[in-house]
Amino acid sequence: MGIRAKFIIIITVLSLLATIAIGYTSYVFSRQNALADAKSKGEMLFNYIEASGSFFGTYQKPLIDELVTDTERFIPELMSRFVVTRMEYDLFAETQKGYQFKQATIDPLWPDNKADANELEIIQYFATNPGVKDKEGLVEKDGDQFFYTARPVTVDKEFCLRCHSDPAIAPLEQREIYGIENGYNWKLNDTVGASMIYISVSEALATAQTAALKIFFIGIGCLLLTIVAIWVFLDRGVVGPIVRLSETAKNISIGKNLCDSAHSDAKDEIGVLANSIDRMRISVNKLLKRSCPDRN
Ligand code: HEC
Repeated sequence: MGIRAKFIIIITVLSLLATIAIGYTSYVFSRQNALADAKSKGEMLFNYIEASGSFFGTYQKPLIDELVTDTERFIPELMSRFVVTRMEYDLFAETQKGYQFKQATIDPLWPDNKADANELEIIQYFATNPGVKDKEGLVEKDGDQFFYTARPVTVDKEFCLRCHSDPAIAPLEQREIYGIENGYNWKLNDTVGASMIYISVSEALATAQTAALKIFFIGIGCLLLTIVAIWVFLDRGVVGPIVRLSETAKNISIGKNLCDSAHSDAKDEIGVLANSIDRMRISVNKLLKRSCPDRN
């Protein structure tokens, strides 16, 4: 195999590996950025939802309890933080697409809050790891990729049991609205659910993939141009002259064309070789005691 072919193969393999590495690294970084972005948005949204819930529990609920003294009364929009949060979020979601919030629960009063298989696993994880206060990850839902952030919901106060333990002691109006089948028999300190925020990352991940592919193809384009340039350079600057000089050396060895100068003005290694061969031609000429009509 000639120098040119060897050189081109080495350059092609190394450049191809470098292009793949750059494309892949770009994908990994863009993906990490997309997930970090989703994570910080999820945290911000969570903090706002929790602040809103905390405002309800600290400031509004005591006033409502003062106004509604009949213990059998239950006005969901006014008396349950979970209802307020759910309905507030539904309004928010009308303008803010790509974000979902769910109070996923193993056995909920409100059927839409029922945890799916992935959420059940997360709740189970929180139940077995009581010290863990959040969890995040990727999940696929309805063909879309989502980054989720989850926080546990624990029955941490005695008063929760008034509405979520024995249905017989729950407010009559609550039983009328929600029935007595689900959302009851919870116990103190049970981890009953997880608040979930889902942020769609399909688009961001697809963009990361496209960017990496673009970088890869631009790299391949540059590689092809480089190969053509190297091929032309080797052909004109190295392989061609070497082939010609070897022909000259062969002729000198058989005493042919001894008056054809091989002198080169090039300052590189090929020029040095050409001038050495030319000196050899002159020496052979002198040995043979010949003289040429023009130079030497
Ligand atoms: C006055 C009654 C009442 C009290 C007290 C109460 N809840 Fe609820 N809770 C409800 C109702 C009603 C819903 C249904 C929400 C809806 O319609 O979205 C609910 C919903 C929930 C949900 C969402 C799942 C579901 O059942 O739909 C969780 C989780 C929850 N409550 C936990 C608690 C915890 C924890 C406490 C104590 C800090 C508590 N609740 C106190 C009445 C109550």
